[in-house]
Amino acid sequence: MKTTEMPFIKTVERHFLERKGHNPHATTEFCWLLSGITLATKIIASQIQRAGLLEIVGETGQTNVQGEEVQKLDVIANETLVRCLGYRGNIGLLVSEEDEEPHVIQDATESGKYTVLFDPLDGSSNINANVNIGTIFSVLQRDPKVEDKNVMGHVLQPGYKQVAAGYVVYGSSTVLAYTAGYGVHMFTLDPSIGAFVLAQENVKMPTSGKIYSVNEANSRKFPVGVQKYLDWVKTDEAGYSSRYIGSLVADFHRTLIRGGVFMYPPTKKAPNGKLRLLYEANPLAFVAEQAGGVASDGHQRILDKQPQAMHERTPLIIGSKNEVEKVLSFLK
Ligand code: AHG
Ligand code: MN
Ligand code: MN
Repeated sequence: MKTTEMPFIKTVERHFLERKGHNPHATTEFCWLLSGITLATKIIASQIQRAGLLEIVGETGQTNVQGEEVQKLDVIANETLVRCLGYRGNIGLLVSEEDEEPHVIQDATESGKYTVLFDPLDGSSNINANVNIGTIFSVLQRDPKVEDKNVMGHVLQPGYKQVAAGYVVYGSSTVLAYTAGYGVHMFTLDPSIGAFVLAQENVKMPTSGKIYSVNEANSRKFPVGVQKYLDWVKTDEAGYSSRYIGSLVADFHRTLIRGGVFMYPPTKKAPNGKLRLLYEANPLAFVAEQAGGVASDGHQRILDKQPQAMHERTPLIIGSKNEVEKVLSFLK
């Protein structure tokens, strides 16, 4: 009798565990952490799919530590992640864009050795316009040289120390991309089984791409070098097109797949730009570099930046190697 072949399903956790022997973090306990992220983002995806029906679109009337209007879905996404990650047994600290201080889940015993940092809902101004939004996450290991009570010492680590990082983009399909230093791998949420299923391994960002992505409304306030680049990129000989969704995760995901460059440069009003280093720029820079791309703040590699504060912002130029280098050549 022909047994019905079960389709071979490789989940994020299973894929991660395969690195056993290569990656010291490829342990079942780390997979338990990862499953906290996949569970939370599945719940967020389901809330977003029904947002209009569940009356959770719109603003809460509160403002967050960033001084930004907090959308209801921001709060739901944040609470979902804190709840799902709070009881994974091996997470000591949680850092969220939405919360001023870190959540100390447990002291840094052996079990509290990981710190998870996240932007629970990125692009939230787009929620009620039904435009793609996302979740960005980054995982650090507690710094053994830092004494336990020094919470900030464990949080303010440069991006090259990340153990894993990635994002989920909630769009026509819900896609999770992650790296743990061994390439970038993509999974698509299969709603019929409620699992992220491996879609593509070792994703590579095209080394060039004639797409530039920036909020041109600010262009007169950008540094002169950026303005010179924006003049050049519009010439016939350059032959670029412009794409700007206004959700970092969606703009980055397109850049990863199709190539090009995304920029959020500094302005006089925002000398460090708008995007946050710890839970937006660092995780996406890790993914970008693992896919062969580049991420800079205009002067240095994003992953080399030593954070001074949990919610600090950084200018960001991220994308295809040749495209980022082209922008940097105008900044010299
Ligand atoms: P968040 O919703 O997490 O605050 O992030 C919004 C960010 C980012 O998603 C996007 O690239 C940027 O805001 C867009 O900013 P502008 O509207 O100033 O272009
Ligand atoms: Mn964001
Ligand atoms: Mn956000």
